[in-house]
This record gives sequence, C-alpha cells and structure tokens, in this order.
Amino acid sequence: MTETKILPVSPEALDAEIITQAADVLRRGGLVAFPTETVYGLGADVLNLEAVKKVFDVKGRPPDNPLIVHVAGTKQLDDIVDEIPDKAKTLGEAFWPGPLTLVMKRTILVSDLVTAGLDTVAVRMPDHPVALALIRALGEGIVGPSANLSGKPSPTTAQHVYDDLRGQIEVILDSGQTTIGMESTVVDVTVDPPVILRLGGLTRERIEEVIGPVETDSTGDRSRRSPGTLHRHYAPKAQVLLVRHGDPAAFAALLQDQRQAGRKVGSIVHSALLAKLESGEFYRVLPSSIDIFARHLFRTLRELDAMRVEVIVVEGVEEDGLGATVMDRLRRASQG
Ligand code: TXA
Ligand code: MG
Repeated sequence: MTETKILPVSPEALDAEIITQAADVLRRGGLVAFPTETVYGLGADVLNLEAVKKVFDVKGRPPDNPLIVHVAGTKQLDDIVDEIPDKAKTLGEAFWPGPLTLVMKRTILVSDLVTAGLDTVAVRMPDHPVALALIRALGEGIVGPSANLSGKPSPTTAQHVYDDLRGQIEVILDSGQTTIGMESTVVDVTVDPPVILRLGGLTRERIEEVIGPVETDSTGDRSRRSPGTLHRHYAPKAQVLLVRHGDPAAFAALLQDQRQAGRKVGSIVHSALLAKLESGEFYRVLPSSIDIFARHLFRTLRELDAMRVEVIVVEGVEEDGLGATVMDRLRRASQG
C-alpha cells in the first residue's frame, strides 16, 4: 500500500512547490492524478514503462486499451507523432488546449504498452493550468487515462479518485470539480474524412465547422481503431434505466414497475414535467442546460451508488451538441 496524498492546488494561483513535488513523483516512476477540464487523469511519465504498466494495474484496465499522451505544447509532438495531417493542424489550432484527442501515426519512441500495439498514438493538450504546469515541470508527455477504476464513471472530483484508487497512487492534485464533466472527443485523423471514435466534450458540430464533414465509427471498424470504446464504461453499480426526455407517463410507469418489484430506486431528471412527479432521498433534479447536466452527471451517478440504490432511472436529453455525448454515456451505462 502507498500513502495517497491529496494536495489542493488552485488553478488561479498555482503553487509552484506542489507542482514540483508532483513532477518529482512522476520522475521517480510514481503515479499522480491530476485535474483537467474534462475529468481527472491518472498521470505517469510516458517514457517510464514500469510506471505506465502500473497505470494499467491500478485501474484494472485491459492491456488492449491504449492510453492518451498529454502534452503542453505542439513542440512536444515531434517526439511522439510521425506525421501531422493538415486537418489535425487545423483542429489543434482551433481547439487546443481543449477537450479534443487526436489519433495520429506514432514514432518508434512511443512504447507498444502505451498504444496497445497500435501504430497510432492518441494525443491531447488539456485546457487546465495545473495539468499544463505538471507536464511542463516533468518536461515530457504524461499518459493519462481517466483516474477511475476501469468500467466506473470517470472521476470529476479528487474525492472520486480517492474513492477508487486510495492506497495505490502517490498523489492526487485537487483543483475541485472539473468543468466539462465528460471525457475528451477522440478523433482519428489518420484517415480522411476523419472519424470520431469517441464523442466527448467537443461537439461534432464544432469540429465540422472547422474541417468539414467527419464520420462516426458506425462502420464496424471501430474495434480496430478504438479498442476502449468496446469495453463496458461509465457504469455505476446500480442498473441504469433510460427514459425519453419529457415523457412523464413512461417515467411514472417505470418507477412504479421497479418499486412494485421491491427495488430501491433512484432517479435523475431535468425537465419540469418529470421533476413534478416525485421527490425523495434518492431523487435528483439537474438543470436542463446541457453543459451543467453533463458537468454533474457522473458525480450524481456516483452519489446514488453510494446510497446503494439498485436502479437509477435517468431522463435522457436531446441528442445534439453535447447532448449526443451525454446520451452515448447513458446508453453505455444502461447496457451494463
Ligand atoms: O478527457 C479525457 O480524454 C481524459 C482526460 C484525463 O484527458 N482521458 C481519458 O482517457 O478519458 P481514457 O484512457 O479513459 O480514454 C482514452 C480513449 C479510450 O477510448 C481509448 O481506447 C482511446 O482513447 N484511444 C487511446 N489511444 C488510441 C489509439 N491509438 N487509437 C484509437 N483510440 C485510442
Ligand atoms: Mg476512461
């Protein structure tokens, strides 16, 4: 067992000493969880293969699911990426730092362990002063899967990381709740048109405004290109049941069925029509503004899990913009 230290660090007034301390831990091959604008990441030095191996071990992550390398500037891409396509440059200029991960051809410097043997590497420049300062202090890329146990909802607070990985990692840098609350959008730019492998914090619409039409991975080719999307993800312990938004009859019927079956039921809703139907300990109303709904969704799923509800009935959202990402996560959670 390792002692896991939670070190508070304000994104507005960076404490250089804490960043140095955390970078030293990475340099010695330790693991440091760090905040980003999307979710918390589990950081290790990309060049330290023992540390990278530990990342898979502590998360219980299947070795066929490759990791994202986080960088702090485009200069760092030279060592990692073999070829930067024009559309990747355009996307990087438009959205980095930000919730966008680009899959590109890798160099031989990137270990097979990181890429799960693929000839590509996923790279992201996070939009968070603490993450960027940590990468700069280490002077190398940092691998960073979400800092949760594999299969659980991604962590949006330092406490979530602590709940999942306590005793297994050295440091958690705590900058409070993350702002986006969903993971980055992963785009394969080795093909043209590029393919969205995982919807995330950056919407398809915004990507297409900049580079024109992109595809999504409905081609059946997805297992080859983004192994991670095949594994069960984002699921709380409780069973998740999804209802259409703004459909009070369906919601009421589902609640009644579940209660009659004697199950302890929680729910997450956002529309006034559904919010009127119920109240209670295991009942959560989130704002219907999609940005705020997304920000709080994983946290709320974890909260209801901690109350040991057996079922969580969730009201779906409209499927455009960030709503498409939210529905992707909810569908995966409900497939559990
Ligand atoms: O927002 C995020 O992306 C967060 C923060 C910490 O940056 N990180 C994150 O990492 O969500 P992770 O490991 O939980 O998800 C990475 C996703 C997986 O679906 C993985 O399969 C995919 O990216 N991926 C990584 N490398 C890839 C590659 N070379 N080709 C295709 N997909 C790849
Ligand atoms: Mg993850």
